Amino acid sequence: EKVVLAYSGGLDTSVAIRWLQEQMDAEVYAVTLDLGQGKDLEEVRKKALAVGAKEAFVFDVREEFLQRFVIPALWAQAVYEKKYPLATALSRPLIAEYLVKIAREKGARYVAHGCTGKGNDQVRIEVSVAALDPSLEVIAPARIWNWSREEEIEYANLNGIPVPVTTGSPYSIDQNIWGRSIECGVLEDPWVEPPEEVFEWTRNPLEAPNEPLIFEIGFEEGVPRTLNGQYYSLLNLVEELNKLGGEHGFGRIDHLENRLVGIKSREVYECPAALILLTAYREIENMVLPREVLHFKPHLEEQYAQVVYEGLWHSLLREALDAFMSKLARKATGEVRFKLYKGSLQVIGRRSENSLYDFAMATYDKGDLFDHKASEGFIKLWGLPTKIYSMIDRKE
Ligand code: ARG
Ligand code: SIN
Repeated sequence: EKVVLAYSGGLDTSVAIRWLQEQMDAEVYAVTLDLGQGKDLEEVRKKALAVGAKEAFVFDVREEFLQRFVIPALWAQAVYEKKYPLATALSRPLIAEYLVKIAREKGARYVAHGCTGKGNDQVRIEVSVAALDPSLEVIAPARIWNWSREEEIEYANLNGIPVPVTTGSPYSIDQNIWGRSIECGVLEDPWVEPPEEVFEWTRNPLEAPNEPLIFEIGFEEGVPRTLNGQYYSLLNLVEELNKLGGEHGFGRIDHLENRLVGIKSREVYECPAALILLTAYREIENMVLPREVLHFKPHLEEQYAQVVYEGLWHSLLREALDAFMSKLARKATGEVRFKLYKGSLQVIGRRSENSLYDFAMATYDKGDLFDHKASEGFIKLWGLPTKIYSMIDRKE
């Protein structure tokens, strides 16, 4: 049997290669995506082969991930439970796409992943695979063997699978260009402050520079294009913002999160660029969209975040929500000016060629064109229901 496995290079998926061979006499095809996790993926590819994969592939999908997944999520202000910008969640449907693609190329009937049985990721990958190719079957080795850490290491040692020294790290980490997710170890006590050692992208705000950093981000039709007036590729821009934010101690999140499988889980995130861009986009929207649109959109944003979190990227609902979001994004051209200082991010200016801010309407100085008299009649009618209610209520 041929099995296409989502391979990270870590212990679980390395053990999975061996285990699939043993259990199903499988030829394993390892697929690794470069999502900006900052690992040497050529090493990962070689490791897959060394551990026994028949073939191993690495695809650089960083731009694709940003264009097709991150930008729509930015437009939708996709943040789960008002805290988590969904970096891990957004990557899973793309991983599923590549599993399906390689399965078809190789004529495999099975795809596999290393997720455990109590997480969200298993749901996201499997629902996506079902949506993309209902004829494929998914195998989740780690969910089947259900070993403790010790049992897994024993199996690895018995089978000559290198156990990385970092297995000593008690944390489970997933990262891509949109953010870094950290769980397990002492973080499992929701009362314990995350120790400094869990953070890699962000400095402790206490150690951030004493000088604030002022910078500008420019958008064209919803897409962030410039930093301080200079054009950047999406990839370079996001990398640069992760760096700037991280240096100034900005981008840490501590979230007691409700997983799809029913449990609460304590998760820590680092996502400077995501938080900066989400704030910037909101600021432009506030300037260019009419009030009723701004008041309605958050309902759909919440729904969008839930759809992504709960593994329904490949769904009609997500596509329909995207249609709404992209219509509005066309208006989002302009610049936002920020101040970063010791862990805080402040918007200090915004401007747009599509701005609905009208100076003559807003000013209290001379040049005021607002029709003050019109307010009299307006207030009479606006307040009418309240007035009638009050009159009736008093009589009773
Ligand atoms: N709780 C987050 C989510 O559900 C992060 C998951 C991290 N995944 C991982 N395999 N370490 O999206
Ligand atoms: C896992 O259990 O595989 C990681 C955590 C998650 O999927 O939420």
